Amino acid sequence: MHDPAPATVRGKSRACHRTPLPLAEFLYGACYYPEHWDTETRRDDIRRMKKAGFNTVRLAEFAWDRMEPAPGQYDFSFFDERIAELGKAGIRVILGTPTAAPPRWMTAAHPEILRRDDRGVPLRHGSRQHASHAHPLFRSYCRAITRALAGHYRANRHVVGWQTDNEFYCHFHDDHGPDVRAAFQQWLRARYHGSVDSLNKAWGAAFWAQTYGSFDEIDTPVPDRPTYVNPSQQLDYFRFLSDVVTGFQRDQVRILRAANPDWFIFHNGIMPRVDYRGAFSDDLDFLGYDIYPFFTDDPADRAAAHAFNCDRARSFRGNFMVPEHQCGPGGQNTYLHENPEPGETRKLAYVSVARGADALLFFRWRTCRFGAEMYWCGVLDHDSVPRRRYDEVARLGRELRRVGKRILGTHVTFDAAVATGDFDAREAHLTYPMGLPSEQNVAEGIHREIREAGYSVGCAHPADALDGVRLYIVPHWVIFPKEWSDRLRQWVEGGGVLVIGARTATRDAHNHVVAKTPPAHLAEWTGAKVAEYGRQKEASGRQRVIEWAGDRVETAHWYEILEPAGDTETAAVWRGRHLDGLPAATRRHVGKGCVYSVGTYLTPAVMRAALPRLARDAALRRPWPDVPAGIEAVRRTDGKRSVWFFINQSDARAELPSTPKGTNLLTGRPHKGGALILPLHGVAVIET
Ligand code: GAL
Repeated sequence: MHDPAPATVRGKSRACHRTPLPLAEFLYGACYYPEHWDTETRRDDIRRMKKAGFNTVRLAEFAWDRMEPAPGQYDFSFFDERIAELGKAGIRVILGTPTAAPPRWMTAAHPEILRRDDRGVPLRHGSRQHASHAHPLFRSYCRAITRALAGHYRANRHVVGWQTDNEFYCHFHDDHGPDVRAAFQQWLRARYHGSVDSLNKAWGAAFWAQTYGSFDEIDTPVPDRPTYVNPSQQLDYFRFLSDVVTGFQRDQVRILRAANPDWFIFHNGIMPRVDYRGAFSDDLDFLGYDIYPFFTDDPADRAAAHAFNCDRARSFRGNFMVPEHQCGPGGQNTYLHENPEPGETRKLAYVSVARGADALLFFRWRTCRFGAEMYWCGVLDHDSVPRRRYDEVARLGRELRRVGKRILGTHVTFDAAVATGDFDAREAHLTYPMGLPSEQNVAEGIHREIREAGYSVGCAHPADALDGVRLYIVPHWVIFPKEWSDRLRQWVEGGGVLVIGARTATRDAHNHVVAKTPPAHLAEWTGAKVAEYGRQKEASGRQRVIEWAGDRVETAHWYEILEPAGDTETAAVWRGRHLDGLPAATRRHVGKGCVYSVGTYLTPAVMRAALPRLARDAALRRPWPDVPAGIEAVRRTDGKRSVWFFINQSDARAELPSTPKGTNLLTGRPHKGGALILPLHGVAVIET
């Protein structure tokens, strides 16, 4: 049996959203699949990459069949040649461990390694991610190929780093075979120190006669067979799945580090069921975040979603690498994105850089002509002719030679932040959503409102450093441990403005509803208790309205009647039906700051009504004066110098009335400040 339970200490990570990548150079390039092409087609690849300013490519993460065509027969010669050619041209290589796509000889000889879905049906060969990370035999095959690769490339100076596997759980997480069941039981034994009584208590097993006599009796939870599953069991299963890939990845990391400690190691995400703030990322040098903004179909929503996604990604471990960045339209069997307009790919890449990318590779070099992604468009089209996407990528390559150097070592600044990045908060919601939006959806809406109001906004975990943040908003985290509440209290005492949304801290670590009046330990200092709560259903016609600073605001999803303590003011009241006149939001001074409790969901409408007051309390300022709507202004700094990004996200040419004086990093020339015209999709990068 493999080691079942990495020492994950959830929420305790010291990871900081301000951590830059430990790289000496901005890595720029693409994901390259030379194994898909013959020599003739590849002929100009390296010359063109060089011309486009590439210094790095990622190779081989799906090429296990090429590297081990028969069991134990390793043949790396094809990649040796490619790496040598790339290296000669000064292009470094990141290799992927190929374990997301095991070869057919393996799944044919050992069908027992295939993952089983929630009906117990084994997955088939023909796609990817079909083997179980918990299967001991699959794990030993994965260790063997990793060992062979690590040993072979340990002294190859062109190979600079590794990506482990590829996007764990990107398609789905379910894994219900007998080996997973055994691993789950072992994981539970460790978690509950061998006491099945402790597990019974932690799972509330008295409900529906679930009491277990031993760990061997426990199954992986399968929803809807026949009905709802135990939410405590479900949350433990999700935690287990995160630990499974952590252990699976750790096998590879140990081997790679032992072979060459100078290699950097990362994984590309970000997917559900992985605790990126926990042990999973402690094992890595940094996180990779694959960015595909065109999954937001409506261009009017894309900028806000892209900004939030980057900010959320930073809330796990700080700045990130982008191992895959959208270049052209993405296409798979059921969809095809629209084409990025001229200049749009470059603009999107700058948004990612402004918001935390310290390295960026486009997905992919040449568009494939076959397979499940044959319309996923890369830098080159199917016919290898370099057209406008290539020209744009090459332009960016020239610019990044200057910009890259100046942004390394800097972090992204923001005045307001939304809480994101916690595994338990997210997964606990998903075990019991009751038709409510997730805390992440709400966080995205809050982020959008603050961003559109012109303030600088980011995301941070409540256990992270909040110094410099003036307004912090926690949207509906049902699991919210006391340590975080204590930290936030100190931060508020020091002058912070905190907003706590409905339902916060209403469940404990076992995913049980707490016995104390909500919001449990938070109520000790926030000055408001919840006397009654209830669901608000759109269809019922009993929509309730609150009155906030004279505005009547429609609320949605949830209501709470708050009971303010004596020293706590009522900031908003309910209007209508039995809630009429009762407190809907409160505000309490705590030290130099204040805390708001809001007894409903922090929807865009509620945020729009509340924001003027919150901004005043927190003394929020525009990051740069006079930035017109539609221009995104983001600042990165290392504490001494700043790099300003002004990005035209509007649908037309836009004018900035003033800009900082400094160096225009796109041209390398001094910048006098003053007004600046940005064309459609235009960008300015100014160092001060
Ligand atoms: C990512 C994945 C890539 C490729 C890409 C485009 O999620 O890591 O291998 O599939 O999407 O679909």
